[in-house]
Amino acid sequence: MSLSTRDRTHFLILKLHSLTGIFPIGAFLVLHLLVNSLRTVGVWQYQLSIDLINNLPFLIWVEILFIYIPLLIHSLVGFLIIFSSKINLKRYPYPRNWGYTLQRITGAVVFFFLIYHLGTTVGPKLINGKEHFEAAPFLIDIMNREFQTVTGCLLYLVGIVSATYHFCMGLWSFCVSWGIIVGPMAQRNAGIVFALFGLALTALGVATVTEFSLDPIPVEATVGGGAS
Ligand code: HEM
Repeated sequence: MSLSTRDRTHFLILKLHSLTGIFPIGAFLVLHLLVNSLRTVGVWQYQLSIDLINNLPFLIWVEILFIYIPLLIHSLVGFLIIFSSKINLKRYPYPRNWGYTLQRITGAVVFFFLIYHLGTTVGPKLINGKEHFEAAPFLIDIMNREFQTVTGCLLYLVGIVSATYHFCMGLWSFCVSWGIIVGPMAQRNAGIVFALFGLALTALGVATVTEFSLDPIPVEATVGGGAS
């Protein structure tokens, strides 16, 4: 039986949504949490990592191509999936169904958190023209202030836990739907491995928030005058 063009397009859009969740968005999430957790090692290690990122050539284009466009595609299709599906937890109260429902809810939470996150970090950085070595002190100052308030800490904790749950549950469903893990035993074991991975990522994020909150350290630009 051959599929109609409409069904084939629908299938390809769902596959694109699935792939973008792992690469590049999921890979970026892991890298982002890792880089930020350098703040728990020391403030200058963290500052150097921000210097490195902000001195990459064509940074804004790389971000648009590999983060913002895939994220926009994933979010758009994600909301279409959410709005076209029914919550049926009462009828089918199985753990797997709870897992899928929570994944949809956390997807929406992550979307609104990211608007806040980008609007208070990348947005002001671009508006104020803080490039190269001027970016690190500007951003560290924003983060120091963010985590001095209970609301700031809570917002980030909810955002981080939602993103790590959404991603790690997604890793599992990706492996099942692409036929990478087959059979009930393999799926159960993979569930445990991805849950542990999710806990480790969450611990990195929580440790970073705690460090910023308990020990806000201001920094000067590594190279004066915002030299490039
Ligand atoms: C940190 C950012 C994000 C990452 C790393 C991420 C990752 C993933 C992954 C890996 C999957 C699984 C794909 C599969 O099952 O094949 C997924 C599914 C999904 N994502 Fe995201 N995602 C992110 C943000 C978002 C946002 C902002 C939305 C907006 C609503 C969203 C909505 C969804 C939905 C609805 C699903 C499908 C769930 C289902 O099939 O029940 N995601 N995501």
